[in-house]
Amino acid sequence: MRYPHLPKLVRHACHLRFAAALLLLISWHTSALAQAPAGQKPDQAAIASAHYLATEVGHEILAAGGNAFDAAVAVSAALAVVEPASSGVGGGGFWLLHRASDDMQVFVDGRETAPAAATADMYLDAQGEVNRDLAVNGPLAAGIPGHIAGIAHIAENYGALPLARSLQPAIRLATQGFPVDEKYHTMMRYRADVIRRWPAATAALLVDGEVPEIGTLIRLPDLAATLQRVAADGPTAFYSGDFARQLVQGVRAAGGIWTLADLAAYRIKERAPISLQYQGYRIVTAPPPSSGGVALAEILNIIEPYNIADMERSRQVHLLVEAMRRAYRDRGIYLGDPDFVDMPIRQLTSRDYAAGLRASIRLDRATDSEALAGFADSPKGMDTTHFSVLDAAGNMVAATLTVNLPYGSAFMAPGTGFLLNNEMDDFSAKPGAPNAFGLLGYTANAIEPGKRMLSSMTPSFVFRSDRQAALGTPGGSRIITMVLLGILDMIAGNEPESWVSLPRFHHQYQPDVISIEPDAFSPELIEQLEAMGHSVEARDSTWGNMHGVLWKHDGNAVSAGSDPRWPSGRAVVR
Ligand code: GLY
Repeated sequence: MRYPHLPKLVRHACHLRFAAALLLLISWHTSALAQAPAGQKPDQAAIASAHYLATEVGHEILAAGGNAFDAAVAVSAALAVVEPASSGVGGGGFWLLHRASDDMQVFVDGRETAPAAATADMYLDAQGEVNRDLAVNGPLAAGIPGHIAGIAHIAENYGALPLARSLQPAIRLATQGFPVDEKYHTMMRYRADVIRRWPAATAALLVDGEVPEIGTLIRLPDLAATLQRVAADGPTAFYSGDFARQLVQGVRAAGGIWTLADLAAYRIKERAPISLQYQGYRIVTAPPPSSGGVALAEILNIIEPYNIADMERSRQVHLLVEAMRRAYRDRGIYLGDPDFVDMPIRQLTSRDYAAGLRASIRLDRATDSEALAGFADSPKGMDTTHFSVLDAAGNMVAATLTVNLPYGSAFMAPGTGFLLNNEMDDFSAKPGAPNAFGLLGYTANAIEPGKRMLSSMTPSFVFRSDRQAALGTPGGSRIITMVLLGILDMIAGNEPESWVSLPRFHHQYQPDVISIEPDAFSPELIEQLEAMGHSVEARDSTWGNMHGVLWKHDGNAVSAGSDPRWPSGRAVVR
């Protein structure tokens, strides 16, 4: 792969294999900055998730003797039941773990993979145009799921309880039922017509073929049976044997291309997180196949020499936007699955590279994105979920899980009880062609058999000698900028309730516009930014669903925050 847009000085170094570059850049074990004073423990636990029942389940498992990793298994499984719009055992995710006893950070990559029969042009019609329906609706849109493999891996390698114990609350919720909440209802209205194409999904998730009202009790007996099988026999009960045959048969009967070999070949990857220093803090975050950590590192490196916290607001927003613009440009050009693509990670995340990008920023004038050579790419994911956990020993988990669009592909194989993802749409279906959001893709993220599609999910930790935090959010391409604003707010000394509530703004290189939440900016601020040459577009609705936890070592203060934008979320310190 060539890197035509990097400055000439660094171009020669870009042919290093990703793994070698990453080893130089990051360490599996972070420095002493990440560690609480010897022997200190928070003595309280905090969990913040997108659903009150999932938060409760996490605390239930902690009370049963589990650690943060067991709680993460239980919360992941519970969200797969009660929040099927956002994640599920038919999807995948990333779990970032911090183990306090040895200050270990590890990134558990349970991202979906393309099936072996997938091809780069599988969504193109006879005219060579992308068939959007095939790319997002039905089983052809689904990657091989990583959710079950991910939670089983965490339970086996990091948990204190057996997987079967941590799955029990989710099995109970699927059996006894849970009430439809606002998110279930709202997102279902958006996807109901596609769900109705598939009898198993219709029977499981709709009521008499209609979107259920808020408060309706939903029971998912087939999903309970699927989870029970995994509890009894481990993840092989999902990825092979009779259940896998039933799943593959259902997929293929509806036009999908999965095989038993695809399921049997699925593997979790443990990866070293991206780790960077910013103003005395250590930020530990998501490596490829997420684009989040690399983009965050670029943005923070660009802005570090400016004291942006003390800047006048229009200047502060301008600088952040210019940094976002440059990082999102690189995201589209360079990033993909590290097992398939050589990436100049070391260069992109270096301070020297950031200095080069900074030099092209004018403090009084917006850069035209067209003036920066390159392409833009952004994931199309609009739904996903995030939760954060701190246990009483100081272990932490930041996990972002997804089925991609709300209710994923909307396809459910008969007898399985869960929807399949439509994560294949996070690949570039046609390099150079605009996607549904008017953005362009590139070859680093082209479809290949067995490859993981590029993600923006950015579960992150922030450490300083006197505090530690976990945070993240859903929100497709906006995830990275939301996590950035949350981290900056944490560094400014604010509590999780502030990080998750902040008004949000976003720029992703193309379209060349600052998107803002309704009323996020005053009319005066918009005028000032427009005078600098920015276009500002207020969206009709808010975005994101951030959940964070914080432990301040001084005074042993634990706090948590759950995004007020979706009322079903809950942050509980206990
Ligand atoms: N499907 C959303 C993401 O992975 O970024």
